[in-house]
Amino acid sequence: MKLALIGLGTVNRGLLELLLEKKDILLKEYNFNPLITAISDPVVGSIFSEKGLNIEEILSLLQKENNIGNYSDGVKGWDSEKTIKEANADTIVEATPTDLETGEPGLSLLRTALSNKKNIVTTNKGPIVLAYRELRDLAEKNEVIFRFEGTVLSGTPVISFVESNFKGIEIKEVRGIMNGTANYILTKMEIGLSYEEALKRAQEKGIAEEQPEADIKGWDAAAKIVIVANVLMGGNLKFKDVSIKGIDTVRENDIIKALQERKHWKLIATAKKTEGKIIASVAPEILSDQDPLSKITGSINAINFTTDILGNIMVSGPGAGKRETGYALLSDLLYINESRRM
Ligand SMILES: NC(=O)c1ccc[n+]([C@@H]2O[C@H](COP(=O)([O-])OP(=O)(O)OC[C@H]3O[C@@H](n4cnc5c(N)ncnc54)[C@H](OP(=O)(O)O)[C@@H]3O)[C@@H](O)[C@H]2O)c1
Repeated sequence: MKLALIGLGTVNRGLLELLLEKKDILLKEYNFNPLITAISDPVVGSIFSEKGLNIEEILSLLQKENNIGNYSDGVKGWDSEKTIKEANADTIVEATPTDLETGEPGLSLLRTALSNKKNIVTTNKGPIVLAYRELRDLAEKNEVIFRFEGTVLSGTPVISFVESNFKGIEIKEVRGIMNGTANYILTKMEIGLSYEEALKRAQEKGIAEEQPEADIKGWDAAAKIVIVANVLMGGNLKFKDVSIKGIDTVRENDIIKALQERKHWKLIATAKKTEGKIIASVAPEILSDQDPLSKITGSINAINFTTDILGNIMVSGPGAGKRETGYALLSDLLYINESRRM
């Protein structure tokens, strides 16, 4: 496989590190030995090299200079559009910032990639929330593969888990803790921290961003429930169809009162099929300690699927992180590699 990496922030760096760390096992067990022919990032730098880039050199430059401009070979300075069209890659690894209003820059880049018959792996929620069906159809028309595991719980398998294991099974309802920052804050408030102190601690630990609104106000969880509903439940929801309430309305007293009754506040994203329609929401809920989601603490995420044949099945694991989300890309790349060999 020939790859072009678009965006060289946390996630694509995580992928590069894993490709290096797991090089031998990927080749031996999965016959996977990809060539990275290009990287494009407006700040960190862009390089194209027909013969492939040396991952060790790229990682070393990133560590020393946080820039790849001094790479020893190749053509420098191509923008992402040109890289996608001309870098001779068959698969585009897209990890640019999420924008839930416009989907850009990712949405245009994914359209370009699919129209140019490139497979895609991405962790960017924006384009999937706004244009899943369009992108899926474009991939089908151009006979390429389009994967986006990392848009739900980073590397914790959700989309591939359902695809491979729920054959013939209907999902009636999904309930999940889909935002690690919100869950971390609620967990810390249970041991006595105020909302503000818990948020500050999350920011210090790198769990919450400097601008935490998307997590706190429930927008990130809403994006994920739209993806789950549309991709795994056959829905056609738009972001605005989700009723959204964040955790910023939950106060210390609410938490203490619930705890006295052995209950726990959690930010719950739900998608439920009712009379052929899917209704989705994100809101803080009080869960009894009998509810398995009440046991999910800290920055861990979980999704519970209520199915017609197997009843409830829960998947739980990390929902963010460099290595974890890098793994989402790697697992999607392995899926494409496997499909090409069949
Ligand atoms: N980090 C996680 O744990 C995680 C988990 C799940 C999903 N995701 C998603 O994965 C994506 C990447 O996340 P990240 O943490 O790696 O973000 P990041 O560290 O901000 O990296 C994104 C990189 O893409 C660059 N970029 C912006 N516009 C571009 C363009 N047109 N072409 C090429 N590169 C461009 C950015 O440059 P500037 O800095 O100049 O904008 C930045 O260097 C996001 O959509 C995020 O929501 C992340």
